[in-house]
Amino acid sequence: MCGIVGYTGPNPCVEVLVDGLRRLEYRGYDSAGIAVLSDGDISVRKSKGKISRLTDLIAREPVSGTCGVGHTRWATHGRPSDENAHPHRVGRVAVIHNGIVENHRTLKERLLSKGRVFCSETDTEVISHLLDEHLDAGMSLEDAARRTVSEIRGSYAFLAVTDKEPGTLVGVRLNCPMVVGLGEGEYFLASDLTAFLSHTRDVLFLEDGEMVVATPDGIRITDFVGKPRKRKPQRIDWSPVMAEKGGYRHFMLKEIHEQPRAILDTLAGRMLPEEGEVFFETLPLSDAQLAAVRKVIVVACGTSWHAALVGKFMIEGLSRIPVEVDLGSEYRYRDPVVDEGTLCVSISQSGETADTLAGMREAKAKAATTISICNVVASTVARESDGVIYTHAGPEIGVASTKAFTTQLAALYLMALRLAQARKILTPKEIALHLTELSDLPRKVEDCLKREGEVAAVAKKYKDAQDFLFLGRGISYPIALEGALKLKEISYIHAEGYPAGEMKHGPIALIDERMPVLVLCAKGESYEKTFSNLEEAHARGGMVIAVGTEGDDILAGKASDVLYLPACGRFARPILEVVPLQLLAYHMAVLKGTDVDQPRNLAKSVTVE
Ligand code: G6P
Repeated sequence: MCGIVGYTGPNPCVEVLVDGLRRLEYRGYDSAGIAVLSDGDISVRKSKGKISRLTDLIAREPVSGTCGVGHTRWATHGRPSDENAHPHRVGRVAVIHNGIVENHRTLKERLLSKGRVFCSETDTEVISHLLDEHLDAGMSLEDAARRTVSEIRGSYAFLAVTDKEPGTLVGVRLNCPMVVGLGEGEYFLASDLTAFLSHTRDVLFLEDGEMVVATPDGIRITDFVGKPRKRKPQRIDWSPVMAEKGGYRHFMLKEIHEQPRAILDTLAGRMLPEEGEVFFETLPLSDAQLAAVRKVIVVACGTSWHAALVGKFMIEGLSRIPVEVDLGSEYRYRDPVVDEGTLCVSISQSGETADTLAGMREAKAKAATTISICNVVASTVARESDGVIYTHAGPEIGVASTKAFTTQLAALYLMALRLAQARKILTPKEIALHLTELSDLPRKVEDCLKREGEVAAVAKKYKDAQDFLFLGRGISYPIALEGALKLKEISYIHAEGYPAGEMKHGPIALIDERMPVLVLCAKGESYEKTFSNLEEAHARGGMVIAVGTEGDDILAGKASDVLYLPACGRFARPILEVVPLQLLAYHMAVLKGTDVDQPRNLAKSVTVE
C-alpha cells in the first residue's frame, strides 16, 4: 500500500527521498510528505495529493539535512488530507507507516486520558505518541521502538527519526515489506527496492518481527526483543533504467511493449527443447515429490487471480491434476481441505499482497507444500514458500498489471509442463511441441503489438460507451475478466467479463445498440460455440468487437470490428488474446484523459486485508 523511504548518510537527503517517493508513488498517491533532521530539529513538509504538490511545497519552503524519511499514502484510516498525511510528528519524533495498527482505538483512548493531543485521524499517530512517550522517559529511539512494538497489534512497517539522535533511522517490520539498501557509508530503508535502485543494488531484506537501526556508521538488525539477527546482502540485477519510462508516454504502455522481452526472460534457461524437458533451478521439488501431488490449489488476488484461473486449464489439461482456484481473501476463511498431497501455488506480482500471503500461510499450516510465482525477488511470498518460480518481468510500475500477467501465464504453462513431465503424463516429444509453442510466443506477442494502430482506432470509436461486455469461453473466459478489469481500472468505464455460454442466462438482457460486446473468438476448441454467441449478440443489435485468428474473414461479416491475432495453440492463446485488450483499455483511458499509471483509489500493492 503506502510507500516508505528513509535515508541516512553523508549526502543531502531531500532529493534522495523525493526521488524515492516518485518511484514508490504507484503504491499510493493520496498524500506525500517528508521529515528531515536539520539544525537540531525535525522539519516536516507534507501535502494532500500527489508528489508534485509536495515538491511545490518544498520549493516554497526549502529544507535540508542528511537524514530523513518520506511517505506516499494510500489512505486506510482517515481521509486523504494534509493533516492525515505522513510523517506524523509528535514532540521529538516523526514517523511514517505502512499497514494498520489494529488496536489503535484502545491505545488512543489511553493516550488521550494522559492529556496527549491528536492532530490526525490516522492509526499511525498512535505510534508517534508511544515513541514520544518512551523517549520522554529517557529511552533511546531503538528502545522506544522496541517498547512500542510490544504495545501495538496489526501489520506494519514504520520508520522513525528523532532530533535526540541525529543520523539515526529506526525501521520495524511486521507483515509489511521493508528492504535495506547498502551504500558507501549511506543506508536506505524502503518498502521496495525501486526506491533506491539508482543508488545501490546491494540489499538486505528485513523479516517479520525484525528491527533495523541505521546510522552513517552502519546498520544493525535485531528481533523485537533485541537479539541480533544475521543477514547476507544480496545483489539485485534489476537496473534503475528498467524502472524508468524510456520514451513512452506512460509506464503502462512501456510495460505492454516490454512483454516480448519479459516473456523471453521468463522462459530463458528453463527449457531443454531437444530433450523435451522443463526445469526450474529455484524449485527444490524432485520428480517423486511432484508426482505425489494429488491436488493443486492456486491462491491469488486481482489480475494474478485471473492468471490463476488460466493456470487451472493449463495444469489440469497438461498434468491431469485437479486444481482449485481461490481468491486470497476468501481462501483463508473457508476452512479449506488440505493435506500432504496438496500443492499450494500462490501467484503475486509484488509478493506482498496481504490476502495472498495469508492464504498461502493457511495452506502451509495445514501441511500443503507451497510454491509461488512472483515477480519481485525475495519478496515475502517468495521467501516464505518452499519453492519459487520468478517471472523475470522487471519492475512493473503501472498500477494496472500487464507484463506481470503475461509472464505469470508463461510461468504457469512451464509449471504445468514440469508437473506433466514428473508424472509422465506427456512424453518428451509432446513436451517439446509445447516448448516450441512457448518459444514462438515473444514473436507472436510482438505481432499483436504491431497492430496497436488498429486497436487505437477501435478505442476511438467506443470511447464514449458507458458499459462494456467481454465474453470468452474456457481458457479465454479469465481473459474476458482481465479485459473488463483493465478497462474498469484505468478508464473508469463499467465493464463485465462473462463466460460466453452464460450470456443467455442474464447479460443478453443488457445488449442493445449502445452496448459494445467484445468476444474472444480465436480459432480453437470452442470456436463454433463462441461464434454462435457472437451471432446472438450481433442479432440483438450489440456492437460486436471480435478478437479472432488472422485469416478468419467470416468474423468481419458479423462483427463491427475485428482485432486479429496470430494462430497459436490452446495454452498460448490467452497470452496473445490479452494484448489487444490491454491496448484497448490503455487507449480508451488516454482518450478519456484519466491518470493511466495511477488510477484513482487503486494501489499497486495491497498490503492490508
Ligand atoms: C492490486 C493491483 C493489481 C494486482 C493485485 C494483486 O489490486 O492494483 O494490479 O493484480 O493487487 O497484486 P499482486 O502483487 O499480488 O499480483
